[in-house]
Amino acid sequence: MTFESDLLTWVSQAKSAISAAVNLEQLKLARLAHAGDKSPIALASRSLGSMDPQDRATFGKIIGDARAQVAAIVSERTSVLEEERDARVLLDEIVDITLPASRSQRGALHPITILKNEISDFFIAQGYGVAEGPELEAEWLNFDALNIPADHPARTMQDTFFVEPLDARLVLRTHTSPVQIRTMLENEPPIYVICPGRTFRADELDATHTPVFHQVEGLVVDKGITMAHLKGTLDLFARKMFGDEAITRLRPSFFPFTEPSAEVDVFFNGRWIEWGGCGMVNPKVLTACGVDTDIFSGFAFGMGLERTLMVRHGISDMHDIVEGDIRFSQAFGVGL
Ligand code: FA5
Ligand code: MG
Repeated sequence: MTFESDLLTWVSQAKSAISAAVNLEQLKLARLAHAGDKSPIALASRSLGSMDPQDRATFGKIIGDARAQVAAIVSERTSVLEEERDARVLLDEIVDITLPASRSQRGALHPITILKNEISDFFIAQGYGVAEGPELEAEWLNFDALNIPADHPARTMQDTFFVEPLDARLVLRTHTSPVQIRTMLENEPPIYVICPGRTFRADELDATHTPVFHQVEGLVVDKGITMAHLKGTLDLFARKMFGDEAITRLRPSFFPFTEPSAEVDVFFNGRWIEWGGCGMVNPKVLTACGVDTDIFSGFAFGMGLERTLMVRHGISDMHDIVEGDIRFSQAFGVGL
């Protein structure tokens, strides 16, 4: 019976093709060729429709058996190959948990940022606010309003970066003192603020100077403020920065916006070090800002943050502060 022998051949071809498949991809191709819609067995199965009912029953059974055999081989081979694949994936994707992890470097805040935060926290705890102003400042606020007229020698004491177009009269602020003016114009006394921020001067970068540096300004305007309040505040501030033994001294000096004016020195590690400038706010400045000088008086101070950091930590070269080497910052971590 040729039909039956054809079937036997197809089944045995299917068997060998399926057993020969060494992976699931090959198995799929073998299955499509020998058991798929266009395989000889499927075509034979389709031809049942044109047979007479008796033959259809007989051949239907034979073909059904043949398809069942092929299906069984496919499913058996599938489980073998799937098991092999799973075992291989486990090996391929093996993770050696004993290998040392790759270390990523921890970041750190810049020490100037840490210092700025520390100073802000110290003054906030005493009831001060923190004021801010722009780094690109009106020349009028940086100089004129602070009683530094255009022809005044104090203007050339601070080497200024002027910004084009020149008739816009903008400068990179040379100090944080313009924030004093902004604060007094916007607020009524009593005023207790500090202003930490970035400042700019056309100074060469050397061991003690940098063209971009930081200052912290302090301003108090209230009834009955005297130089004793200024001295007491500076002493507390110095002790916070340099430890309980630190003391300050005021040396007569000159700033157009304070009268009297002084340089603040701090005694640290056995010697006097210049720390910043200070004084009683010049009544001319108070009046220009609409403050009634019959009722109110005030003091102001301005310190360099780089200078503070260098003194406190014995940093001898400004380059270490400005160059941004992470190893320098890491010694300070992310806070104190
Ligand atoms: C002033 O800038 C005044 N505005 C300070 C002031 C404020 C006086 C309020 C009175 C009342 P002076 O130019 O001295 O002052 O600068 C203050 C501090 O800034 C200096 O003591 C120094 O620590 C720091 N400083 C100035 N120039 C540089 C620079 N190029 N690099 C690093 N720090 C600087
Ligand atoms: Mg000075």
